[in-house]
Amino acid sequence: MREHPTMLRRTRIALLVTSFAGFAAWSAVAYAAKPLELHPKPEVDLPFGDDLSFPEGPGSDVVAANCVTCHSVDHTLNQPALSREEWHKVVDKMITAYKAPISKDDAKTIVDYLSRVKGEP
Ligand code: HEC
Repeated sequence: MREHPTMLRRTRIALLVTSFAGFAAWSAVAYAAKPLELHPKPEVDLPFGDDLSFPEGPGSDVVAANCVTCHSVDHTLNQPALSREEWHKVVDKMITAYKAPISKDDAKTIVDYLSRVKGEP
């Protein structure tokens, strides 16, 4: 006996529904079994260390206010020790080449400070 076409279609649909439900159940179990992965906190060693302030002293507040807008404290302090004249050139370069908005008075205070803290021995 040949099956009735409607019966055949029903069987096919039933098969399809069953296999889909099976797949859904399987993936739900697989998903639930997967442990929740939290991203570990990254540890990063900064190339210039993580000291965030200039050593305290006369002018340190002026240096902090004018120099860390563009780069870190360590970026400035990890330079070779320079003479007063060379520090003057560096600060001048920040103003003329990189457009750092530093007043003449502040520039002098900064040069005084840097040649004391990081001056040539
Ligand atoms: C407007 C942004 C800006 C400000 C403010 C600024 N700098 Fe810079 N500085 C730069 C740039 C740009 C460089 C070159 C790129 C680099 O080395 O990171 C640089 C480089 C330097 C260097 C490396 C040596 C060199 O000549 O390139 C030193 C030292 C330095 N700055 C010190 C200072 C000091 C001290 C101050 C505060 C008076 C200051 N900077 C303020 C932008 C700035």
